[in-house]
Amino acid sequence: MINMNIEDVLELSKKELGADPTGHDFFHAERVAKLAVSLYTKNNSYTEQDVKLLLIMGYLHDVIDDKLTDDIPGKINEILSLRSIEELKPEELAEVMDTIKNMSYSRNLSDTHHLSLKGQYVQDADRLDALGAIGIARAFAYGGHHGNLIYNPTIKPTTNISKEAYRNKKSTTINHFYEKLLNLENSMNTSAGKMMAEKRTRYMKSFLSEFLKEWGEIIDEK
Ligand code: ADP
Ligand code: NI
Repeated sequence: MINMNIEDVLELSKKELGADPTGHDFFHAERVAKLAVSLYTKNNSYTEQDVKLLLIMGYLHDVIDDKLTDDIPGKINEILSLRSIEELKPEELAEVMDTIKNMSYSRNLSDTHHLSLKGQYVQDADRLDALGAIGIARAFAYGGHHGNLIYNPTIKPTTNISKEAYRNKKSTTINHFYEKLLNLENSMNTSAGKMMAEKRTRYMKSFLSEFLKEWGEIIDEK
């Protein structure tokens, strides 16, 4: 990738997300940034500046998430004082800030915020990182960090989870697949994102059926 001269953005992303143990670490931000660029540039005509904006949004998208910081206004100020951000045109700055403030899953549980086209690609890339093999790994990391069980067969999963239930993070991780992850393919913005989401969701379903099969074998042997 061409040198975009956004080292200050990468530095802030590393400082804030670093080695977060819940699957929202710097490498998550980097995967989202790069996947958003890859999907966008394969499906749209683009300029270098488009790529730069996609990268900035990807690297910063979790820096002002209330799961990861108690000081959202402080983090917004840190972002606004980065040289790469100060250099943006007003409409570019507005697009970046609107995307990173409004793209999260929890933000969109009660009402859907309309994102710019680039914002939609970044949101799709973020959702794709919750799917597939990486998505499975992240879900168990998140659940373990929050003290949740891998699975409890006596607790039935609910689809259409409420905002409050989602916020209290107490599902078993397997139930989280049913409550959120398997439905993400239906909320993708772009057709490229949707195709990749369908493929990753199929993989998760085969993981789930193997997981539940193994669980069944243990119970049957009693
Ligand atoms: P967003 O940042 O878009 O609001 P989240 O940060 O809540 O979305 O979810 C991102 C990641 O955290 C996903 O990989 C998801 O699987 C994981 N996650 C969120 N809630 C849970 C949970 N209750 N159990 C397991 N993983 C979870
Ligand atoms: Ni994210």
